[in-house]
Amino acid sequence: MAQVKFYDTVDGSLLRFAVIVAKSNGKWVFCKHIERDTYECPGGHREAGETIDDTAKRELYEETGAIDYAIQPVCIYSVTAPDNFDGKETFGKLYYAQIKSFEGELHSEIEKVELFDELPTNWTYPEIQPLLLKEVENKMGEERHTVTVNNNSYKIIKLLGKGKGGYSYLAESDGKQFVLKQIHHEHCDYYTFGNKIEAERNDYQRLLNAGIRIPKMLDIDIENERIIKEYIKGDTIFDMVKNDVSVEEYLTQVWEMATLAKSSGLNIDYFPTNFVVQNGLLYYIDYECNNYMEKWNFENWGIKYWSRTPEFLEYVSQHS
Ligand SMILES: Nc1ncnc2c1ncn2[C@@H]1O[C@H](COP(=O)(O)OP(=O)(O)O)[C@@H](O)[C@H]1O
Ligand SMILES: [Mg+2]
Repeated sequence: MAQVKFYDTVDGSLLRFAVIVAKSNGKWVFCKHIERDTYECPGGHREAGETIDDTAKRELYEETGAIDYAIQPVCIYSVTAPDNFDGKETFGKLYYAQIKSFEGELHSEIEKVELFDELPTNWTYPEIQPLLLKEVENKMGEERHTVTVNNNSYKIIKLLGKGKGGYSYLAESDGKQFVLKQIHHEHCDYYTFGNKIEAERNDYQRLLNAGIRIPKMLDIDIENERIIKEYIKGDTIFDMVKNDVSVEEYLTQVWEMATLAKSSGLNIDYFPTNFVVQNGLLYYIDYECNNYMEKWNFENWGIKYWSRTPEFLEYVSQHS
């Protein structure tokens, strides 16, 4: 019987192996050895002069062909078994990787890489690797709810909404609430984007200069394409219209915004998911703006969605 233990840290010189639990496109990534009929996680021995993190990357590449991936350490594991190093406890570092793309050929004793929806039943190391996977799942489960922005961590509370540009979450840090927007790169039929995160930053500045009431931008992480914004707690105009609550009293405020925008040569996105009311004040919460075009201004376009028009109802029926 093998005994498997987990540690947060050990002396680095003890680490002899790296094992990478990997996923690609939501599926588990396993390797089949040329001489065996069983599956194993990518991983292997640390070579002389190598850091353990380099071992992990080298093995991941050699055994799966991963070229575009994100890898992160999870913890240390150890194995103690009578038939393993004379019963001595041996240590390895466990990693989690998300692989975006693979190169065709492999540079190792691995015959092929297979992607699994469900875990395999024929493991090369049945007493060890299923436990490593479980540990990664547990640890990542906790972590899935934590996101960092320029090295500050935020706890994700819930998804507020998804737009054409990103996912906006209600997030918490130091007992305060924020909106964390994660840019996404999903295709959109009716709009083409340049660099989205740079656009958010530039548009934010243009909106500020135009004097439009918007949530403050508190942090921006260009590399991870994340923004921290002030949270405007309240209903969106979209939800009010959908629930048949009149938004008449906010029309004056949106007209004021439209006038300010136009006099700065801008259009904002007048779609009502982009407006939130807090304490009677209307905020434009998206940072998107475009050069002014009559076709997309409030009176010609936006207003159509500020009450239960056929256009509004059509949108609702297509998005629920
Ligand atoms: N600062 C904020 N305060 C409150 N809710 C917000 C805020 N930012 C975004 N949201 C919510 O998230 C949704 C999508 O955000 P938005 O910035 O409009 O994304 P996109 O650029 O993808 O359209 C909004 O409809 C709103 O419900
Ligand atoms: Mg929006």
